[in-house]
Amino acid sequence: MKFLRKCPSYILSNKSNKVLSNHTHKKICKISNAFTDDFINFLKEMAPTKVPVSLRQGKGYMQELENEGLSHHFQSFLVPGEYVSIEPATISSEFHNFILDEIENLLDLPREHLVGLRMQYNIFPLNSQYHTLTLIPHTDVARKNITPVAVNLNLTSNHTLRTAFYEYDPINRRKDLEAKKMILEGDSYIDKIIRMNPEYTDSEKILLEDWNKYEEICLEKGELSIYQGDYYHAPFLKPDSNSSIRLSIAIFLIYGDEIVSSVSRNKIERNLMMKNMKHIRGYKLIS
Ligand SMILES: [Fe+2]
Repeated sequence: MKFLRKCPSYILSNKSNKVLSNHTHKKICKISNAFTDDFINFLKEMAPTKVPVSLRQGKGYMQELENEGLSHHFQSFLVPGEYVSIEPATISSEFHNFILDEIENLLDLPREHLVGLRMQYNIFPLNSQYHTLTLIPHTDVARKNITPVAVNLNLTSNHTLRTAFYEYDPINRRKDLEAKKMILEGDSYIDKIIRMNPEYTDSEKILLEDWNKYEEICLEKGELSIYQGDYYHAPFLKPDSNSSIRLSIAIFLIYGDEIVSSVSRNKIERNLMMKNMKHIRGYKLIS
């Protein structure tokens, strides 16, 4: 195993191109050509070459060979495939500043209100069928006083990474707004979709009654998307004869409102250990 010393010096291409969704109330953004090829290759190189396959039920994907003997307990993560955490500090602050600036411009969420961040590689084989739960429209987190934001960066050559955005639009128009609120708050819509799709499937075959796909973001290698995680969305996945692996980076950010973010800031400021020891790495190579 090798240590990669550091990020390339030039990570921003300075010729990025931004496209916003046409949807009036939803701010969904796609950015192309933001990063240099060196940086995208560095991110690919950082990804592990071998990834342990999780034993959790409904790990998100199923390949042909696994077809027999699987029970269908739908109690899993929504993450399709395997994931590997990335320590954010291994990536130049220029990258984080770029992302935080774009979020501030697009969603009006100042970086001072950031209270949580998780960054990971999402990894799975393209020639698969997918767990119904991974294909259902969902929100990442929907809670009062916080706003979740998701960023996806495609690192796969010759593969388009697709994210679909949905709105609840019951076919039976007699259902009033109150009923709509109840069904979404109680998540009972999930049970209904699972009953309609009890087997592993894909985004073209899945039956999604009452849901209207109003937007789809398509990312080629090196392109990224930014959107609020409380918009209903799902990865758009279908079996691909390409037998390679899909690799992308997902970043989940949580922004607090005034109160939540000031409580979080105070906690950090009180922690003098962190303040004084931030330059210590924990190991030192003997040369
Ligand atoms: Fe999501």
